[in-house]
Amino acid sequence: MKKINSNLYKLAMSKFATGVTVVSINYNNNYIGKTVNSFSALSLDPPLVLFSLDKKSSSIQQYKNSKYFGINILAKNQKKISNHFSKQKPKWGDTSYFLATNNIPLIKNSSVNINCKKIKNISQGDHIIFVCKIIEVKIFNKKPLVYLNSKYI
Ligand SMILES: Cc1cc2nc3c(=O)[nH]c(=O)nc-3n(C[C@H](O)[C@H](O)[C@H](O)COP(=O)(O)O)c2cc1C
Repeated sequence: MKKINSNLYKLAMSKFATGVTVVSINYNNNYIGKTVNSFSALSLDPPLVLFSLDKKSSSIQQYKNSKYFGINILAKNQKKISNHFSKQKPKWGDTSYFLATNNIPLIKNSSVNINCKKIKNISQGDHIIFVCKIIEVKIFNKKPLVYLNSKYI
């Protein structure tokens, strides 16, 4: 066993294969989206999910102050969208989206679109955990985008 440090933490976590999501908000009619792979199922009853964001993120205040979130589980052919929304302040111009009933932008051609309501923010370490209750989903039969070893597979 090796004593943990930042590089070892990152390397160990990179061995855990995840899906890739873009978490979207509508903040005062500005659409914001962020690539997130810390997404996870949390509870079946009630239907809860969670994800976490870096406290240093340029838009952390907007996410902390949002009541509703869109979670788009990306399909295998949406690598470009994942890269786009991992940049700072990405524009929505080239991304096809539709609006959920609460005006949250949801990305078209995703594997799954989720519309959810925030239940709680939890500050833990250098991240904020967002716990959300799912309101509605749209599911397509698509192969998922998978992230492993710090790259898409
Ligand atoms: C595959 C992938 C997964 C990511 N997952 C997360 C995540 O779970 N939480 C997070 O805060 N940032 C995550 N990021 C980083 C953000 O997408 C993005 O780089 C960062 O938020 C942009 O900077 P900003 O938030 O300061 O605008 C991920 C990036 C990639 C490429």
